[in-house]
Amino acid sequence: MNPTTQPEEDREVRSDMLTRAAASRPGDDPIFALHGEATRRAAAGEDILNATLGALVDDDGKLCVMPTVFEAFRTVDPMRGAAYAPIGGDAEFLEAVTADALGGRASLMGRSVAVATAGGTGALHHTIVNFLEPGQALLTTDFFWGPYRTIAEHTGRAVRTFSMFNEERRFDTAAFEQGVHDLLEEQGRVLVILNSPCHNPTGYSLDPFEWRLVVEALNRAAKRGPVALCVDLAYSRYGAEGSDAWLGAVEGLAPEVPLLAAWSASKSYAQYGARVGALVAVVQDPGARQRVKAAFLHSCRGTWSNCNHAGLLAITSLMAEPEARAASDRDRAKLVRLLGERVARFNELARPAGLDFPRYEGGFFVTVFTPHAARVAELCREAGVYLVPLKGGVRIALCATPESKVERLVNALASALERAE
Ligand SMILES: Cc1ncc(COP(=O)(O)O)c(C=O)c1O
Repeated sequence: MNPTTQPEEDREVRSDMLTRAAASRPGDDPIFALHGEATRRAAAGEDILNATLGALVDDDGKLCVMPTVFEAFRTVDPMRGAAYAPIGGDAEFLEAVTADALGGRASLMGRSVAVATAGGTGALHHTIVNFLEPGQALLTTDFFWGPYRTIAEHTGRAVRTFSMFNEERRFDTAAFEQGVHDLLEEQGRVLVILNSPCHNPTGYSLDPFEWRLVVEALNRAAKRGPVALCVDLAYSRYGAEGSDAWLGAVEGLAPEVPLLAAWSASKSYAQYGARVGALVAVVQDPGARQRVKAAFLHSCRGTWSNCNHAGLLAITSLMAEPEARAASDRDRAKLVRLLGERVARFNELARPAGLDFPRYEGGFFVTVFTPHAARVAELCREAGVYLVPLKGGVRIALCATPESKVERLVNALASALERAE
């Protein structure tokens, strides 16, 4: 019989259509699944508090946007915006983004190279493929943004973690140094990824002292093998005053330790969809620096070719033109204030309610620790409050929780924690 006329049910199902690895991908995103359920219940008329998704929304649940960003898009020259961007991004963008990522510090900028990337995600991708051999693991905190693992596994790498918090709920520098040491012994090279300030999912920002200890540990390790530090800056504009202290610390990195800054416009310009990001690398040796740049360009060509040109041009004007910059800073300040009020309210209510969470001074998320995360999230869900269960805690998206609803959230959580024990 002609195979095309064969009845559907009789056709042989090829189990080898996909590669072995590709055939077992999960496909669904658990956070989006929870969000979907919350949205369905709300649409059916229930009073639902949905603190799952990672975008800043106003008190009416509408996405917060910055009008100056859209103004900047409107003024992009169509002939430039529609043309391909250079593979590594326009020089003006790279200059502006480097200054932004490195806080204008000449000592770091003078030793840097950069490329435009598809969001911070793209910057993390290029870091992982260029600073780890296939089969090797990156090192990060035990609470971490899930796509680190997706990118690592997708590119034939893996994730290794160290315990992020000590008994005092401060960054566990001893566990960090041990993690670096063990991985270096095991695989002869270490890439560390730290997301600070405003770590997703815990909200934690390393303080200047913790950063200094991190840098000292890396410098010690670098005597025994190649070590690189990537700072994921996704939420950098939402940190408390002084949260750029990491810049002072990384000036003390040994010359052989490259610094990678994964920069993103998604949160800093409330512009998630344009996919504007950058990877900035600070490398002491000029020859090595040029090889790093060439490797990044190769990765750009080997993934998305070139980035969204209109997006790059719009964000460049907001960083480089003083008036536009001041206007967009004013726009952003409103968003930072909105989130700051929610953070303050959470701290005010959650500490007295006995919730266990680390120092939280700003950022889209906070994590409340519990060994019964799945049960706690389920009990909250029964009360119409949606949170994301993690291993060791539940993640709360304050970016999606109006200040007036923080009390309900804290009460639901406190009661669920009591019942789950
Ligand atoms: C910790 C962390 N890093 C990086 C990103 C990258 O975001 P984007 O690719 O939109 O810049 C995100 C986004 O949610 C994040 O939470």
